[in-house]
Amino acid sequence: MRLSRKVTAMAMASMMVFSMTACGGGSSTQETTAATQAVTEAATTEAATEAAKETVEETEAKGAGEGGNIGVCIYKFDDAFMTTYRNALQDILESKGYTVTVMDGKNDQAEQNNQINNFIAQEVDALIINPVMTSAADQIIATVKDADIPTVLINREPTAEQMSAYDKLVYVGCDARQSGTMQGELILDTENKGDINGDGKVSYIMIQGDPENVDAQYRTEFSVKALTDAGMEVEELDLQRGDWDRNKGQEIAQNDLAKFGDEIEVIFCNNDDMAIGALQAIQAAGRTVNKDIYLVGVDALDAALNEVANGNMTGTVLNDANGQAAGAVEAMESLLDGTTFAAGEQSIYVDYVKVTPENVGDFQ
Ligand code: GAL
Repeated sequence: MRLSRKVTAMAMASMMVFSMTACGGGSSTQETTAATQAVTEAATTEAATEAAKETVEETEAKGAGEGGNIGVCIYKFDDAFMTTYRNALQDILESKGYTVTVMDGKNDQAEQNNQINNFIAQEVDALIINPVMTSAADQIIATVKDADIPTVLINREPTAEQMSAYDKLVYVGCDARQSGTMQGELILDTENKGDINGDGKVSYIMIQGDPENVDAQYRTEFSVKALTDAGMEVEELDLQRGDWDRNKGQEIAQNDLAKFGDEIEVIFCNNDDMAIGALQAIQAAGRTVNKDIYLVGVDALDAALNEVANGNMTGTVLNDANGQAAGAVEAMESLLDGTTFAAGEQSIYVDYVKVTPENVGDFQ
């Protein structure tokens, strides 16, 4: 009993430290100091010292493949691609004998902070975190470092400098520039390189994901850059955030098709879910993909693969959920085995793959 009280007290103290950092300091500083003092005082009593020894023995970290407890934080469950990803992650971890708890951050960083703190309080052996906000990376890294928990970040890449703060931290993901470039190449590979009406320029709308996310920023930039690097002139008719969401993709495309009509030659979507929404709007407007308009996405969701095969999407780019999940587990296991990662070597990338009607069968 004494043991669990001590563990809880220490966990509470670190929880407060984290929420203080998350709120930018201020009012909870006093609470934190008080809690830290309480823990320090408790630890000076003989009983607590014994308990502390027991804690060390009891919580001896489990190595790779030893069936440890793994906490997984996903930015939100209601995201098509991250659903495929988290299912893959859970399957791989469970097949290797780990006990896995997956939490839904509900697109709320404060909620996710609590979930991370709870996992720390439960003394999980490792964490896999898909941050809600890239801007929260510093706080998340400080928290897991303070708790000394090996951590793999996925899907939202912090900077190399941010990661260098903790050597038991790795990022596994993809280089979003590559997916953007591939989207541009899909358009360049069409018979008129995207210039359907032959006026010498490619007129497009860009349906962006969450602009706070580097995937959205890079895909937006590099899809167009591939066209201009190939010497094409481009005209951006509209750029709007669709937050990775199918309904928003549909609404944006519907409004733009009503506003710009036949001027739109290409619809770039930062992901497939928004592209599927845009396709609904394209079909409702009586337009035909690959004939009078082009449409590209990223992720290779099952629904998008079907549309590529049917000719209703020009192409997509495989965002390899299985490969990234396997990479994340592999990185987690090296951390559990005691490997540390030097600054500048903390990002592990999985390649994107271009998906066209010619090779779509390989992905279905
Ligand atoms: C991207 C993916 C999007 C969305 C986003 C969430 O990599 O393409 O569909 O899941 O991650 O951060």
